Amino acid sequence: MIQSLPKVTINAAFLKEIKDDNLNLYSLLENLRSFWLVNDPLVLNPEWFSALVNQLRDQLAIHFALEETFGYFDHPVIFDVFLSEEAKRLKDQHVELYLEINLIAEKSEEMLYPDFNETSYTTLVNQFKKFYQSFQQHEVAEFDLIMRVSHEEHKRTKKNILMHELIPRER
Ligand SMILES: [Fe+2]
Repeated sequence: MIQSLPKVTINAAFLKEIKDDNLNLYSLLENLRSFWLVNDPLVLNPEWFSALVNQLRDQLAIHFALEETFGYFDHPVIFDVFLSEEAKRLKDQHVELYLEINLIAEKSEEMLYPDFNETSYTTLVNQFKKFYQSFQQHEVAEFDLIMRVSHEEHKRTKKNILMHELIPRER
């Protein structure tokens, strides 16, 4: 059976820049982290949790759209099979992560109305903790990919310079 290889790669410089510039996203994540560190509705208001999770959902939609538009690209002329497989896996993960945060955001509104449900709140904060960890793993894997692709590009550029030096120049 012939299997088509994934032909996806990243623009390492753009992907890194998108991450470096998204301070809103990282500050939202940091604020939300305090809700499981202090999982007590009397200390941290569950309405803030709901508002922040909804903001995070919207912020992630923009973040993933930017990454997919400028950070990833299909059908590259030159690609490494293993790096390409990893790029496809990480790009596909955006949908899973978005669906997960969307579900948490929806449930966070349901838990508040008509009456606040503390059990649902505790469950939801734990669900958010798992989401946070999955998102961090995704970010670490993308940073790793950025480093590996940059390294490959650097090697290729160096090789091209060496090849260029071997070609005799006209005098
Ligand atoms: Fe990503």
